[in-house]
Amino acid sequence: MQSGYLYAGTEYSVECFCGMEKPSQLKRLPDSSCNMKCSGNPKYSCGGYLTINVFWTGIQKFKAQEARNASTDGENVKPVQIAYLLTVNGRASRQVKRLINILYHPSHFFYIHVDARQDYLYREMLEVEKSCKTSNIKVARGENLRHASIWGGASLLTTFLRSAQQMIAHSHHWDFLVNLSESDYPIKSNAQLTQFLSLNRGMNFVKSHGREVQRFITKQGLDKTFVECETRMWRTGDRKLPDGIQVDGGSDWVALSREFVEYVANSQPDALVTNLLKVFKYTLLPAESFFHTVLRNSRFCNTYIDNNLHVTNWKRKLGCKCQYKAVVDWCGCSPNDFKLEDFSRIRNTVDRNLFFARKFEPIIDQRIIDRVEEWLYPEKLNKTVIAAGYDAYWQSLYHNADLSPLTDDAQLTVSNSIARSTFRKLNMDFKRVHLLETTAYFRQNQFVGILILAEAVTGEETVGYTERVESLVYLKHNFSTSREWLGKIQSLSVSTDYDQKEKTFRNLMGSIGPYSSPVLSYEFDTGITTPQNLSVLWVDPYDRLVDVNYILLEEMALAGYVRPQFNEHLVVGSWHVFLFADTLLVAKMNFLVTPLGYWRNKKIDVEKAKEVNNAASDYHVNEETNKKWSHLLSSMNFYGRRTYSTDTEININSNLNEWIDKLVSEHYEIDKICDANESKLKLQKCINTFWSSLSPDSKADINNLC
Ligand code: UDX
Repeated sequence: MQSGYLYAGTEYSVECFCGMEKPSQLKRLPDSSCNMKCSGNPKYSCGGYLTINVFWTGIQKFKAQEARNASTDGENVKPVQIAYLLTVNGRASRQVKRLINILYHPSHFFYIHVDARQDYLYREMLEVEKSCKTSNIKVARGENLRHASIWGGASLLTTFLRSAQQMIAHSHHWDFLVNLSESDYPIKSNAQLTQFLSLNRGMNFVKSHGREVQRFITKQGLDKTFVECETRMWRTGDRKLPDGIQVDGGSDWVALSREFVEYVANSQPDALVTNLLKVFKYTLLPAESFFHTVLRNSRFCNTYIDNNLHVTNWKRKLGCKCQYKAVVDWCGCSPNDFKLEDFSRIRNTVDRNLFFARKFEPIIDQRIIDRVEEWLYPEKLNKTVIAAGYDAYWQSLYHNADLSPLTDDAQLTVSNSIARSTFRKLNMDFKRVHLLETTAYFRQNQFVGILILAEAVTGEETVGYTERVESLVYLKHNFSTSREWLGKIQSLSVSTDYDQKEKTFRNLMGSIGPYSSPVLSYEFDTGITTPQNLSVLWVDPYDRLVDVNYILLEEMALAGYVRPQFNEHLVVGSWHVFLFADTLLVAKMNFLVTPLGYWRNKKIDVEKAKEVNNAASDYHVNEETNKKWSHLLSSMNFYGRRTYSTDTEININSNLNEWIDKLVSEHYEIDKICDANESKLKLQKCINTFWSSLSPDSKADINNLC
């Protein structure tokens, strides 16, 4: 018998002969025991010599299978057990706990992989694991099992396969592996999912692109080689995909049968998997095509169901802004977050085999998550809506145990400054103040303010005692509108990390340092006369006009953002932004570029502080523009009112913290303080204070889970 490759996905007609005699006397086997189908693996049984004649008959038309929705009469379907692979990133630990809470069932298994760079989320997930005495929640640990799983990176597939191996080893019971992220949420109950998968045992759910294959390959960059190095995917050139392989792909959210996972994640994979792994090691977004391709070209080809069980909120105009340029040499897209107004779309999937939706982020919209949960489990409704912290959300911005990723130095500087001011406000004589945590606080689906948890050693060093408090801090509303424009501006703010997809700032604290790139976001009322041209003037703390931007307000473009072109190094202090309609002042606001008290998360030394906080002051606007606008600003008497101290040198050298604290107090206001431990302070205990991050949060309470 000759051996050789058959092209998978290709149709062959096959004749098999078997016997102990010469080839001419072999007996032809029935076709049923000589089955090649699309897998290319003949099944035969022959006690002697075997001859197989293979005739190529053409490309096989691959057909995805249909999912079963009902059992045949009288069939008793044993419920499947599900293993969830949660690949999580970021700091939304309370949302991940809420996700685990809603998915949890004692017969399911959870394996959590936290991006290796995310210290905070990792520690939080270890707590979840510890709280689960039944050991059906496991967290990936150690260098071999934790990966810096960058967006679109080859490491996402490594993460998946290594995690899958662990999941197989940890539990012998599960039947399906379902992967989810921090921004997924179920839209059917656990019972409905279990029933559906039980009817489809052994099948594999993946979503295909649904367009012409070559177009998919090109759009996906599958014909390019990518190399992952130093947490970035570098595109190194074109490549040819292997002959005879049916390339397929679509979404990286899947539900795979245990048999298929055992096949694909086997530590000694067969030639097909081994060779495809070589290809996919150099592939962008590998998990979006690897499983599909293996399925179609292996003996599992008849278990392929074209459905990833997900509703995805694609809004490509918003989500395809080349936002991952810093991590991949490619323009990738991301789906949008669901909002409450999208609920009917989710509800309309009630009769379809869709069990999860993405994406959800409580900092963008928590109400949609509440609504879905109340809809899925109405029996819990009365209990949940009155439960502690139900309408609040807390998201960590900083924790003092974090080593990675580095916190933004401007955020750290402002947080430490507020921590000092909090104890000063309590008239406490403190020796040292330690910032413990910075948290963003939301209530009724709105961002409220920042929480600063800090402790101070008071009294004498040797006999001193530690006080721990949390303060609620508001960002001062530093903008005013001219009389003619009153009520016509819905919002105007300057911050960094503007997310074009969700049209919001990711920098919730609004802390801006000398190396930040500030952006102005605006939203005008529908009632204004359009079109309208506005000029945006950026004026530094020395009253110099640094840049002018232009906005065209139109009926369909009343909200947006402008990004000024500044030097890389901003002058520290209070900046001004003026909006003019022709020469009429529309609004003005100010924002702080804080001097840095920290450099790479360590207390800054004097030399570095001089370099960082003492920016050179070239400015860009040309003379004519400068003349025009300076004239207007003088006529408004703007310059006469400025009192900015130019004594930067003195501030850096002798009293950097006082300087920072003075500037920070002009832009942030400490509203309330609670007592975070049993101290002598006459303050409300944080645990009983509804806004405190230490108060109960029923949605994220995993203590009685398992
Ligand atoms: C989605 C889909 O996954 C993908 O199919 C599509 O082509 C692009 O959009 P997106 O929503 O942009 O991806 O990515 P996101 O959910 O943020 O991240 C995907 C996975 O990678 C998540 O599990 C996330 O936790 C993980 N990830 C992302 C990391 O582990 N580290 C990161 O730095 C970024």
